[in-house]
Amino acid sequence: MNSDHGIYSFVGSEHLLTPSIVIVHELVQQNLELMVRIAGRADRLRPHCKTHKMSAMVRWQQQMGIQHFKAATVAEVEMLAREHVTDVFLAYPLVGPNIARVARLQQKYPDTQLLLNVDRSAGITSLGAAMSAAGHKVGVVLDLDVGMHRTGAAIGDAALRLYQQIDKTPGLTPAGLHVYDGHRRQATLTERLAAVREDFVKVLEFRDRCVASGCPVPRLICGGTPTFPAFAQLDEPTIELSPGTCVFADAGYGHHFPDLGFTPAAVMLTRVVSIPEDGTVTCDLGYKSVASDPPMETRVVFPQLPDMRILLHSEEHLTFQTAEWQHLKPGDVLIGIPWHICPTIAMHRDAVVVRAGRVVDRWEVTARDRVLSI
Ligand SMILES: Cc1ncc(COP(=O)(O)O)c(C=O)c1O
Repeated sequence: MNSDHGIYSFVGSEHLLTPSIVIVHELVQQNLELMVRIAGRADRLRPHCKTHKMSAMVRWQQQMGIQHFKAATVAEVEMLAREHVTDVFLAYPLVGPNIARVARLQQKYPDTQLLLNVDRSAGITSLGAAMSAAGHKVGVVLDLDVGMHRTGAAIGDAALRLYQQIDKTPGLTPAGLHVYDGHRRQATLTERLAAVREDFVKVLEFRDRCVASGCPVPRLICGGTPTFPAFAQLDEPTIELSPGTCVFADAGYGHHFPDLGFTPAAVMLTRVVSIPEDGTVTCDLGYKSVASDPPMETRVVFPQLPDMRILLHSEEHLTFQTAEWQHLKPGDVLIGIPWHICPTIAMHRDAVVVRAGRVVDRWEVTARDRVLSI
């Protein structure tokens, strides 16, 4: 088997344990630069850190001029606070013990301004009680449901009342609207732009109603990787763009959104462990090391084996068919591009970093655990 892995080639793979994540420094740099170029300016970005969950990546994004971040878990917020990020939006509904937890987090990291997310009246009441009891005043963003039907309030009178309730609640201050549209899957940017424009007319009308009722709306936090290039084209200064996946990219987004131009930059190093029968190969890339939320046939792509067809996926094994099987033997190293990188990263303690064809570092997946200190 040709051991040239193209843009993923590096020396020293024989010393690395498998399965491992390999981050190619130059490709991440390229993706970060493209993300900023699409946004127009670094300060229009509020990237989601859930893709990488890594302090090293936060520092790199800060060096690119990015100051605002989005997170999905309290642990991710703490990772960002530890890196002295001063503006963090926790884009997740807070319930149960997470409410008091976030108040403690604000206490411990007073230099990090938290923005919290709500979509219902009781959530506003309990957040307000916890924050005012702790002597904090935090910004609250109203989550709008623009069609994904996962969280959020539908645009309308009830949502307006929620925004007004935030304004009236001690401990809270209205801080904007969250417009996440993960359901937008149109294949071309032209189609996504048309869809985004249609949604945005309603968002702006709603924003204007909030403002007319005396509640400021300082920001509109919009989009993920597929739609941020569309939101970036809208002439609205309060838009903050919140892609996550594009920093590493993956085979899934590359397949669905070929217009995006990001290159998979975090890939899997795996070894063949068995040739169970003619035509069939098994490697050590089970679903405890690569995300298994995509359909079984598309969990990983091996650029060297374009004909590979996945037959079985178990906890520590991936078994596939390929006409190339005779050129493979146990111990051979393969590079695989995950279909879905975000959950893949979260299954690893750290990742190997390759630069100029050599292993130069190892980065911790800092917020992989649900709890850091709080
Ligand atoms: C609320 C929210 N914002 C932003 C993103 C980033 O989207 P993407 O992964 O497409 O970049 C996600 C992704 O899951 C999300 O859930």
